[in-house]
Amino acid sequence: MNTLRKNWLRIVVHAGAWIPLAWLVADGLLAQLGAEPIRAIILRTGKSALVLLVLSLACTPLNTVAGFRPALQVRRALGLYAFFYAAIHLTTFVAVDYALDLELLREAIFEKPYALVGLAAFSILLPLALTSTKGSMRRLGQTWRRLHAWVYLAALLVIVHFVWLVKLDVREPLAYGAIVAALLAIRLSPVRQAIRRVRGRLAGQYPLPTTRAPSTYLE
Ligand code: HEM
Repeated sequence: MNTLRKNWLRIVVHAGAWIPLAWLVADGLLAQLGAEPIRAIILRTGKSALVLLVLSLACTPLNTVAGFRPALQVRRALGLYAFFYAAIHLTTFVAVDYALDLELLREAIFEKPYALVGLAAFSILLPLALTSTKGSMRRLGQTWRRLHAWVYLAALLVIVHFVWLVKLDVREPLAYGAIVAALLAIRLSPVRQAIRRVRGRLAGQYPLPTTRAPSTYLE
């Protein structure tokens, strides 16, 4: 019971992160992916990757603003699940939609700017996923922190990718953009300190006992 109380958020995250994939597979098996099943897979895995990426970015601000420490325990898992869905998204595009035809892929990537931007985002996420282990964190020290701050650039590139491909109604990608910008703002030192002061005043004690994240982005 105690273990359950301590790990409830981890359980929710690990169970929840598999739902979009299970749903996709079920829809595929039941032939419920619509007239363009490959496109449906690309769209759904892309969206899942973006949502999980934004959730992983929200963990540290949640601790800063609301003192919700359990969020820090699930940052790395959320980031890795985001990468997992982005990898399925990219693999479906490259191996299924374009059947690994390198000439066609070269054309698609250089003629469709949104694909180039998506590739740039993925190229950032790949080294972050590969260095998300505790061993890499220890080995790379401060460099690890600087490297993992690039996750914000990856998220912004994903949003540009999304804006570019929807063309007309950009409200949804811009809403994600606003969330990422707000999360990034909360990570900035003056904003973080202002939040701490407000929290300290609200709690009637100043300075507030620190609930600062460990000095790393991903757990
Ligand atoms: C080389 C890398 C990538 C390529 C070639 C690519 C390609 C595509 C394609 C073809 C679409 C669907 C366009 C359409 O038919 O309307 C799409 C949509 C999308 N992609 Fe990517 N993508 C890449 C990387 C990424 C990454 C890394 C992410 C997120 C982490 C991502 C998130 C999205 C999102 C959110 C959508 C829109 C989904 C929706 O409209 O519901 N993409 N991408």
